[in-house]
Amino acid sequence: METIKLSSGYSIPILGLGTWQLKGQRCTEIVKNAIEEGYTHIDTAWIYENQEEIAPAIAEHERKKLFITSKLWRDQLSYSDVLEQCDETLSQLGIDYLDLYLIHWPNKDIPMEETFNALAKLATDGKVKSIGVSNFTITHLKKALGISKIPITMNQVEYHPYLNQEDLLAYCNDNNITLTAYSPLGRGIVLKDRVILAIAERKKKTPAQVALRWLIQKGIIVIPKTTREERLPENLLALDITLTAEEMKQIDTLNRNERIVHPGFAEF
Ligand SMILES: NC(=O)c1ccc[n+]([C@@H]2O[C@H](COP(=O)([O-])OP(=O)(O)OC[C@H]3O[C@@H](n4cnc5c(N)ncnc54)[C@H](OP(=O)(O)O)[C@@H]3O)[C@@H](O)[C@H]2O)c1
Repeated sequence: METIKLSSGYSIPILGLGTWQLKGQRCTEIVKNAIEEGYTHIDTAWIYENQEEIAPAIAEHERKKLFITSKLWRDQLSYSDVLEQCDETLSQLGIDYLDLYLIHWPNKDIPMEETFNALAKLATDGKVKSIGVSNFTITHLKKALGISKIPITMNQVEYHPYLNQEDLLAYCNDNNITLTAYSPLGRGIVLKDRVILAIAERKKKTPAQVALRWLIQKGIIVIPKTTREERLPENLLALDITLTAEEMKQIDTLNRNERIVHPGFAEF
């Protein structure tokens, strides 16, 4: 699969499988099927409580052929908590390193210095290859870039045609931070959009492929989630299409600054 080089020097596959809300045996089966279909990048988090179910699916494969991302929960950002939660995550996943470890949400109540010092220690110890953040605004990123002693390679944020965060994307590009789009299908909402449906119909592709391709052509990593086997190859095939400049522009105009994920603790 096509990859993007991170500022750490490691490469990330441009499409991965999101696993939020995938639980139990179903989670193991979907991840197993996804890898058989050609997915090499799996996105999880400690808070998803599914890392133990992902473990048997990834155990069947050569570790270095997979790219595994996990995330550190927001109340576990002190130096010792970071080290502890990383060990727990590795043990749940049954692996000895993460390809990418993200701070799931910023938390102004815990000094960022502690968190980034612990992440640097994990990188030195070989427990994580690359580090990054999630749900960071430009303000958070400016502060973090002044603190972290190792490259902040990633910002994973909500991004889809109804939340086209162009300023954040430009800031990330300028600072060598790759962006991952979570909820890249807008949890299905954007797939009913007239413009996306029309482009899909014209190209004989599905709305999901068009929505994912719009992100990929912006240089954004995508991690669509599905609980349905038949959608695994469909989403993967977003890699094989091309949108014209005109089609890209049409989708660019759909922005409504509409956030799906906005928990009470968010610092947006
Ligand atoms: N960092 C963060 O704070 C954060 C927050 C949210 C999500 N995430 C990550 O991002 C991943 C993806 O985001 P998400 O799960 O919120 O939303 P999403 O991937 O945008 O949408 C998932 C929804 O779309 C449906 N779907 C998937 N493929 C489809 C297709 N080809 N055609 C029609 N519908 C399709 C799924 O239904 P079916 O299951 O029925 O296919 C599911 O209801 C998560 O799983 C998680 O790993 C991270």
